Amino acid sequence: MDGVGASQGRDQVDATVFRDTLARVPTPVTVVTSHVDRKPHGTTVSAFSSLSLDPPMILVSLDQRSDLLKIISDTGRFGVNVLAVGQQTLATAFARKGDDKFADVAWYMDHGAPRLAGKGQWLVCRTEQLITAGDHVIIIGLVEHADTHSFEPLLYRQRSYGTVTHMRS
Ligand SMILES: Cc1cc2nc3c(=O)[nH]c(=O)nc-3n(C[C@H](O)[C@H](O)[C@H](O)COP(=O)(O)O)c2cc1C
Repeated sequence: MDGVGASQGRDQVDATVFRDTLARVPTPVTVVTSHVDRKPHGTTVSAFSSLSLDPPMILVSLDQRSDLLKIISDTGRFGVNVLAVGQQTLATAFARKGDDKFADVAWYMDHGAPRLAGKGQWLVCRTEQLITAGDHVIIIGLVEHADTHSFEPLLYRQRSYGTVTHMRS
């Protein structure tokens, strides 16, 4: 993994101010998935962003303690379920530790990654690069497949779920 330099000894924003500032920024809500021998694993991730058009790349950022990170590091492939409004129970279900998170969830394999049933959008990626940054690891994915359709995205802001209004879906 490439390293991004630590910032010890330099000016740093107060941790509470930092958290409160970022909490006011709305984020998408995704469930990032991978599998070991077809046993699926998934994690709720809001740190998801487009990165490059040519080649098509996205990034997600996972805590270094994430179990999903270990799996993606090994398999080099992952899926991104971009959740739709009404799927917040999935967001909650996948935001906990455990290897049984798919137990009561409808899913199927799609282009080699576990996809959640429902109205969410879908991307399948091959890992291009892992970059350690502070206590997280940025995963850069080359997008091999995407499935898009009109949908209302689930958003997360101020520790609660909502969606956009007054915008075309
Ligand atoms: C709305 C929401 C967004 C989250 N975003 C992230 C994220 O971007 N990166 C991350 O590592 N964890 C994020 N989490 C926390 C993980 O979902 C949680 O720590 C999970 O238990 C990790 O599971 P794992 O160890 O199986 O990967 C988020 C949780 C919630 C509720």
